[in-house]
Amino acid sequence: MSTSTYFMDLEEKHGAHNYHPLPVIISKASGCEVWDVEGKKYFDFLSGYSAVNQGHCHPKIINALVEQAQKLTLTSRAFYNDQLGEYEKYITDLLGFDKILPMNTGAEAVETGIKLARRWAYAVKGVEENKARIIVCAGNFHGRTSSVISFSTDPSAYTNFGPFMPGFDIIPYNDLEALSKALEDKNVAAFLVEPIQGEAGILVPDEGYISKAKELCKNANVLLIADEVQTGLCRTGKMLCIDHENVKADILLLGKALSGGVFPISAVLANDDIMLTIKPGEHGSTFGGSPLASVVAKKALEVLVDENMAENAAKMGELFREKLRELNSPFIKLVRGKGLLNAIVIDHKDPEAAWQLCEIFRDNGLITKPTHGDKIRLAPPLIINEAQVHEAVGIIGKSLNSLEFKV
Ligand SMILES: Cc1ncc(COP(=O)(O)O)c(C=O)c1O
Repeated sequence: MSTSTYFMDLEEKHGAHNYHPLPVIISKASGCEVWDVEGKKYFDFLSGYSAVNQGHCHPKIINALVEQAQKLTLTSRAFYNDQLGEYEKYITDLLGFDKILPMNTGAEAVETGIKLARRWAYAVKGVEENKARIIVCAGNFHGRTSSVISFSTDPSAYTNFGPFMPGFDIIPYNDLEALSKALEDKNVAAFLVEPIQGEAGILVPDEGYISKAKELCKNANVLLIADEVQTGLCRTGKMLCIDHENVKADILLLGKALSGGVFPISAVLANDDIMLTIKPGEHGSTFGGSPLASVVAKKALEVLVDENMAENAAKMGELFREKLRELNSPFIKLVRGKGLLNAIVIDHKDPEAAWQLCEIFRDNGLITKPTHGDKIRLAPPLIINEAQVHEAVGIIGKSLNSLEFKV
């Protein structure tokens, strides 16, 4: 039995079957590259679904983690600790909000954002108890919790997981007219939106969508909740994706790269008029805001800023899309994205072609995964350099050529 087969069999036998991984067993990583158990090296073009923006095992983040782990990891929020406040000050100054509420996973940030918007609707806007509504978009992906899947439009996310949480109105993405109509309901508390729909296949809305949406929400006294769990933290070439349209969210949700891929750290940011509607004892989490998480998140943010990762993502993203288009492959229907959050849409008669292409990428030294059948996400760590972009495009081109003969 090969080493790879041994590890795959272990997971198959003892783990729940809630994922379908590409067959590659990674045991080591650094920067943009990972190594499998047999020592083969790959470019990582998934980056843990944009959690590893800073590159794998960034030395400054790992050093901060190790140093703090040897001193103090968790106090729970029953007590103060000497790291949380420093982190809270840093992130609120950096992103321009009064307050942060620290959580762990992205889905928890979304749950928190929903609770906060509902609370604001009752406490400030004056919506009648239990009547608050939240507008969301078709094709959304905001996580896997029961409330969050209640407003998913993906049958594989919600089928046979009901009954569902009420209070959500689903409108088409990138449709301002539909938003405008939905906002006529006086009970609407918030509009929850991804500035680019990630899991839907890197769907970039029309220019002006987010700024116009914000204006419509403002006029209707409705909060804009920006889910930047995947798009945020320099991934699209700015600190936040909504920065491209100079929009400020009322509630901002962050996760993934907030820890540089070290462990789950998420955050909800808002100003006092919204955040202070939640009082002591009304929301929280044992691990959220731990001293360890505070140190790691602060360092992960500092690294993004100090190493100009937004700028590099913008530059390398332009180059990457240009080179992908130059491949002129008959199997690429579309190249789309912003910064280093990109996807190709595959044009092939075989519905399994995107999966097969990912296997060929892997054989040629690049790993990523399809999303929703025919789309392949291409999102390397933001530290990728020009030579690496050229090398990766070479692998992609060579793989597309062999797809022709294989399928
Ligand atoms: C936009 C968005 N929101 C929320 C989540 C959920 O994050 P997590 O998997 O950490 O719960 C994801 C995960 O992919 C996401 O892309």
